[in-house]
Amino acid sequence: MELREFFHATKVVTGAGAVAQTGDEVLALGGKKVMIITDAFLASSDIYKKVTDSLDAAGVEYITYSEVRPNPRTTDCDYTADMAKAEGVDVIIGLGGGSSMDQAKASAALVTNGGKCVDWDYIELPEYMLPVICIPTTAGTGSEVTFCAVITDEEKKYKMTVMDVIKLRPSVAIADPELLLTLPPALTASTGVDALTHAIEAYTAKVSQPLTDALALHAIELIAGSLVEAVTNGSNLQARTDMQNGSLLAGAAFINSDVGAVHAISETIGAWYDTPHGVGNSIFLPHVMKYNIPACPERYAKIAKCLGIDPTGKSDEQLANEAVDYVIELCETVKIPKLKELEYIKEENFEAIAQRSAENPLSLDNARDIDAAAYLDILKAAYAM
Ligand SMILES: NC(=O)c1ccc[n+]([C@@H]2O[C@H](COP(=O)([O-])OP(=O)(O)OC[C@H]3O[C@@H](n4cnc5c(N)ncnc54)[C@H](O)[C@@H]3O)[C@@H](O)[C@H]2O)c1
Ligand SMILES: [Fe+2]
Repeated sequence: MELREFFHATKVVTGAGAVAQTGDEVLALGGKKVMIITDAFLASSDIYKKVTDSLDAAGVEYITYSEVRPNPRTTDCDYTADMAKAEGVDVIIGLGGGSSMDQAKASAALVTNGGKCVDWDYIELPEYMLPVICIPTTAGTGSEVTFCAVITDEEKKYKMTVMDVIKLRPSVAIADPELLLTLPPALTASTGVDALTHAIEAYTAKVSQPLTDALALHAIELIAGSLVEAVTNGSNLQARTDMQNGSLLAGAAFINSDVGAVHAISETIGAWYDTPHGVGNSIFLPHVMKYNIPACPERYAKIAKCLGIDPTGKSDEQLANEAVDYVIELCETVKIPKLKELEYIKEENFEAIAQRSAENPLSLDNARDIDAAAYLDILKAAYAM
């Protein structure tokens, strides 16, 4: 058997009200001046106030950058790294969804390693990044426990990855489900299916291992049991808690296994058209699952069971196909847009999208070998829905 490695070194604080601990966590890291990296919406919200109240109570000085955009750019990270250096910041807080957390992580890496963000695509970091505290407000990317930052290189129209299994891990993740209570239904839905995608792709990837399997399967159970409720009744704290834990477990799973073809397409259209990451994943997840079933029907059968599908008297293939139907129905229930509704993605672009997705290194670990022709079929199947 091939050897596998598993990394996790982030302190995780979970539970309602956890955000009040932010200031103490900064002090525990020896921080004196913090930079909060967040987006404009969050900076004007109560969530931001909860963070700054905690920093004030701990007597921690802070500055704020509040211009994170969805799918952050390499140049944005260069800018915030320069700002952190100029201000003498010693801890960075990523407050928000994956975009804010990834920009925080990439900037923290640039502060200590120098260079431009584009220099660090899949390059091991010589130096530890500046300590980072991640406070997720979507559930989600799991970026609070992953050691990668996915950043758009606008020049190359490509999503690059800053990654280091040791030196890019957040020091602390503060996962407070109360911060999710304001997440609107559409964002709850698409970011939630992103988390489900992480779990399903991690569990079926060629490089999955027992440690990631355990995390991924429990993540699937938690997400399947709570996503619809979180979308339709956003104030349900238990559903938000389950979604947050599910997202976090799925993040720890995929970063030690891998994601696959769903993410390869979603990264392509994210870089080319700025499609929100979760929406891209949700559109292609069931079609990639269907394509992958022949490679590991027993794994998709297990996923079906974790989704709550009754296995009595059914073969693995039947269960696997029911898992696909479940995901299609789930996406309809939570009102994920269809590929056709993203009018900026035209059929004539499909071949180029398929080609670029096949070139994405994520394709290598996909459950089943996949090439541009298979991607094209998946795009067409999604378009026909
Ligand atoms: N590093 C990783 O491990 C990893 C994994 C998956 C995805 N990603 C990356 O993460 C990014 C996507 O992150 P995302 O899906 O979390 O979305 P996002 O960070 O882009 O945020 C989307 C929107 O949600 C809003 N929002 C966030 N929290 C809110 C709240 N509590 N209430 C109301 N509005 C809120 C934001 O203001 C923003 O407008 C992509 O760039 C993707 O490539 C990274
Ligand atoms: Fe993702």
